[in-house]
Amino acid sequence: MRDLLIRDATLADGRTGVDILCDRGRIVEVAPRIEAVAGRVVDAQRLLVSPPFVDAHFHMDSTLTFGMPRVNASGTLLEGIALWGELKPTLTHDAIVGRALAYCDWAVGKGLLAIRSHVDTSDPRLTAVEALIDVRARVAPYLDLQLVAFPQDGLLRSPGAVDNLKRALDLGVDVVGGIPHFERTMADGAASVRMLCELAAERGLRVDLHCDETDDPLSRHVESLAFEVRRLGLQGRAAGSHLTSMHSMDNYYVSKLIPLMREAGVAAIANPLINITLQGRHDTYPKRRGMTRVPELLAAGVPVAFGHDCVMDPWYPLGSGDMLEVAAMGLHVAQMTGTEAMRACFDAVTTIPARILGLDGYGVAPGCRADLVLLDARDPVEAIRLRAARLAVVRAGRVIATSPPSRAALDIPGRPAFVDFKGVGLE
Ligand code: FE2
Repeated sequence: MRDLLIRDATLADGRTGVDILCDRGRIVEVAPRIEAVAGRVVDAQRLLVSPPFVDAHFHMDSTLTFGMPRVNASGTLLEGIALWGELKPTLTHDAIVGRALAYCDWAVGKGLLAIRSHVDTSDPRLTAVEALIDVRARVAPYLDLQLVAFPQDGLLRSPGAVDNLKRALDLGVDVVGGIPHFERTMADGAASVRMLCELAAERGLRVDLHCDETDDPLSRHVESLAFEVRRLGLQGRAAGSHLTSMHSMDNYYVSKLIPLMREAGVAAIANPLINITLQGRHDTYPKRRGMTRVPELLAAGVPVAFGHDCVMDPWYPLGSGDMLEVAAMGLHVAQMTGTEAMRACFDAVTTIPARILGLDGYGVAPGCRADLVLLDARDPVEAIRLRAARLAVVRAGRVIATSPPSRAALDIPGRPAFVDFKGVGLE
């Protein structure tokens, strides 16, 4: 007997009426009508079955701290950093672990089974680093947590930061992070990029820098990142997160920059919910959108993922781990309303971040990990439109979360008894 058989699914590539057979943690067969006996059978009723959502950019050490010790009154990135600096000395291992585990529960409920989280290495105690390494091991059976060593207070402007970051990597943090736009000068920012990329190359690690998270059109550290990635042979292992200054850059300069990123093999990670709320705060009107140039990057062949970045923390008061909400915001901010463009927004929270994280066995095909989400939608665009309910979340061939479909019961004479928002003519 096999572990799980999902019947009559629609896949993100448009195939429909497909069965998916899972056994011992892997997908063993994907075909129109599979004859097999399984311990559990799920009837997908022609709804969408996708590999799980992947968040390429998150901060799990600060999540669910909203209001501690106070809220961000200006709504800016810089006040958020200052606020986090006030909170940091009071953090304890157990409190960080408790909040992170609670967030991972939310993530599982939303079908989000892989997260790349930056972890602040500025505190010499490395409290957050040790806590999230603990969390990474505890959630491993149901969620892949990848950690990035993130020198929040700057690598060069903050005494001891280089040493702290290296100690975090020694403890087993997976990826090298950075924040060049927070250094005191452009030159220091560029120097930090060089040092961090060299560190990643020496240690054989991936690199993912918070880069140019500002409205300053002259903040150009992604150029340094692309240059260093090419010089050091880090192609395919590097990402620039945020890149919001690209929104404000001169068009001529961007026409040079994007091909450089493409040639260097640098991926881009935009964070639509956070970029649209933190950026443009110094503007009167018109207010800039503050998200990087997603359609132009995609058109040039640069992989673009959308990250959640923050949920209920010093930078963002909202969020619930719903990557479809992230995709919907990215779609709106980038005006990606064409059919292919909307599909790309779904890819930006599934297949593209899976590639950026280097996830092994991601997808719906024989041999892939049996990690799947059954969505209450008929295709990826409908999933975004409805922020579709996660009817079933599967990890290693086992259903680990379920949700009811979203429906409203009506009591209007002559009208249907229910609506499910998927179309007309429903009973
Ligand atoms: Fe971030």
